[in-house]
Amino acid sequence: MELTKDKIIELLSSKDDSLFKMADKVRKEALGDEIHLRGLIEFSDYCKQNCLYCGIRRDNKDCTRYRLEPDAIIDLAKKAQGYGYKTVVLQSGEDPYYTVEKLEYILSEIKKLDLAITLSIGEKTMEDYAAYKKAGADRFLIRIETTDKDLYQRLHPNMDFDNRVRCLRDLKTLDYEVGTGCLVGLPEQTIESLAGDILFFKEINADMIGIGPFIASPNTPLADEKRNNFDLALRVMAVTRLILPDINIPATTAMETLHPNGRIIALQSGANVVMPNVTEGDYRKFYALYPGKICVNDTPAKCVGCITGKINSIGRHVSKTKGFHNKAKN
Ligand code: 5AD
Ligand code: FES
Repeated sequence: MELTKDKIIELLSSKDDSLFKMADKVRKEALGDEIHLRGLIEFSDYCKQNCLYCGIRRDNKDCTRYRLEPDAIIDLAKKAQGYGYKTVVLQSGEDPYYTVEKLEYILSEIKKLDLAITLSIGEKTMEDYAAYKKAGADRFLIRIETTDKDLYQRLHPNMDFDNRVRCLRDLKTLDYEVGTGCLVGLPEQTIESLAGDILFFKEINADMIGIGPFIASPNTPLADEKRNNFDLALRVMAVTRLILPDINIPATTAMETLHPNGRIIALQSGANVVMPNVTEGDYRKFYALYPGKICVNDTPAKCVGCITGKINSIGRHVSKTKGFHNKAKN
């Protein structure tokens, strides 16, 4: 549905829970009761960037760094396929160790498994994005984080808002399915700027939108900015669903960190995707964007069973398709 900026601000500012029911109805009409699972592989927490909110920022000396070799990543993708996943998401910090050649090898091997592949590895050149696409990547996630330009520049030293938008436009040009999204509850972020974020998602013609509450992370410059942003993040997500009825929206891990039933609540308020972790062992714990991350001591097998049970308990079911936004690709 079409909503003006003023109307969005009103919906975000209100305490009225009917927003969530409305978003749930819009999701059901556009997409039905299927939920898509994406197996998340966190393959490196080295990062050359220094985002003020992020636990794996370059200057965090208390972050235990690790990176998986290409064959180990491919092995995790094989296991994910064995658990029934149709998509894997390869996520890392911005780690130059993974050259285009290495990524081409990883992508082309995983492609042989008939999995859809989503990359979430940050800002690259158009040429690099084109090479990943050619090697087998189908989708790319890169959150804009905030469309408030001043706030963006303060939070992201040595980064440039316009370059981030350039990345999103290049990915669209290259025919990726493109995911973006924002953090909710950042210091000095306004309701008006969140409304601007939602309008930006529409303008950029996003295929997926991930909305996460900001969670203060120790050993970062924003460590003391503690607040519970769950309700507001849920509202931003629900309004996004009203405006973009048929896109893919995950119930984010950060939501479950702030509320014991956060993902199910999100699935009942507009979301249609969950991204369970398929990373193994201690790496789950080391990949700490924020504290209190869920499932750090669980196994990939446990998570797939756990979330499937929860999904079935609310009368929804796990899809057997790859879950592209563009239905012709499924
Ligand atoms: N709280 C919540 N989400 C965070 N991210 C990074 N740091 C935090 C934090 N402290 C999110 C960013 C990034 C995604 C991978 O993780 O939005 O895009
Ligand atoms: Fe990991 Fe529930 S999803 S234990």
